[in-house]
Amino acid sequence: MVRHVSARIVVLASGSGSLLQSLIDAADAGTLDAQIVAVGSDTAGVVAIDRAAAAGIATFVEDPTAYPDRDEWNRAITARVLELDPDWIVSAGFMRILGPTFVDSFPRQIINTHPALLPAFPGAHAVRDALRYGVTVTGCTVHLVDHGVDTGPILAQVAVDVLPDDTEESLHERIKERERPLLVATLAQLIGEHA
Ligand code: GRF
Repeated sequence: MVRHVSARIVVLASGSGSLLQSLIDAADAGTLDAQIVAVGSDTAGVVAIDRAAAAGIATFVEDPTAYPDRDEWNRAITARVLELDPDWIVSAGFMRILGPTFVDSFPRQIINTHPALLPAFPGAHAVRDALRYGVTVTGCTVHLVDHGVDTGPILAQVAVDVLPDDTEESLHERIKERERPLLVATLAQLIGEHA
């Protein structure tokens, strides 16, 4: 008998982890044929780590401030994730740039989700930047990670209207409502294509 093996996923997250939660829920429900083998963060005590622990998922923290320089941190987080032997790595609100050591260790295996329609508004303040620019439509993008900042090949996008009275918070929350199912669906498709 051939045993079915779910895809091994490592999720990296820095904040509230609502995107992580959508992955956990989809894996639990069986709509995502995946096993989240670990959740890693760059910051101790974040809600994302609590969510993982509550779901019985292994966690780790690699804080860049604990290392003498960025290269050392990159080597440490690369070694940590290599040990987990993931099929896919999901950067879901992970607010650090993964360096070449990391990216080259997992070619075309890292996906990132970004709260804007790339290539518009890359970087850490995408929602604020879109609002300040005055666009009437923004959205979210799921893409493969390469050596640039939010530059890798685009896998999927969804548009979100900007409303006249939007604040950064209200707009980001509406984007995330679309971003969560987009991330789950895109990862499910990748897993299916590589099964
Ligand atoms: C998402 O909008 C992600 O694209 C951005 O940070 C947000 C993470 O949200 N980089 P959460 O922590 O999963 O709620």
